[in-house]
Amino acid sequence: MKQRTFVMIKPDGVKRRLIGEIISRFEKRGFNIVAMKLIHMDRATAERLYEEHRGKSFYEELINYITSGPVVCMVIEGDEAVSVVRKMIGNTDPKDAPPGTIRGDFALSKSENVIHASDSEEKAKREMGIFFAEKELIIV
Ligand code: CMP
Repeated sequence: MKQRTFVMIKPDGVKRRLIGEIISRFEKRGFNIVAMKLIHMDRATAERLYEEHRGKSFYEELINYITSGPVVCMVIEGDEAVSVVRKMIGNTDPKDAPPGTIRGDFALSKSENVIHASDSEEKAKREMGIFFAEKELIIV
């Protein structure tokens, strides 16, 4: 089933010049990029994105980090995009992310883990809606 998912290359991924490498993996896997932008997120947007983590021990660290530099936001479309993209990025903690996954190959720690992708279709819709207007999504 064709799905859309939200993907974000985090500040460490941008700083380490991994944008091309990461986009290349999704393109080679046959996914279409239907929206993309480079932004420096403000605190209010970061709090909206990560509202489910409010109150957790790492919340402040997470908000400070995600607003520390530019990120690349994307909407990716393809067959079973939500679960396939999650498999391609690997586990949150790079120690558990297999080689061949984006985090397994590049992430340095649980917080500086290069990339985010939605973990369900519902979340994908919510997260896309934070960063993109419906008219910004390209029809392919
Ligand atoms: P992400 O997929 O963007 O969703 C929430 C983020 O919180 C996660 O990636 C990590 O970057 C971060 N995170 C989760 N657990 C921890 C933790 N224990 N310590 C620091 N950051 C964490």
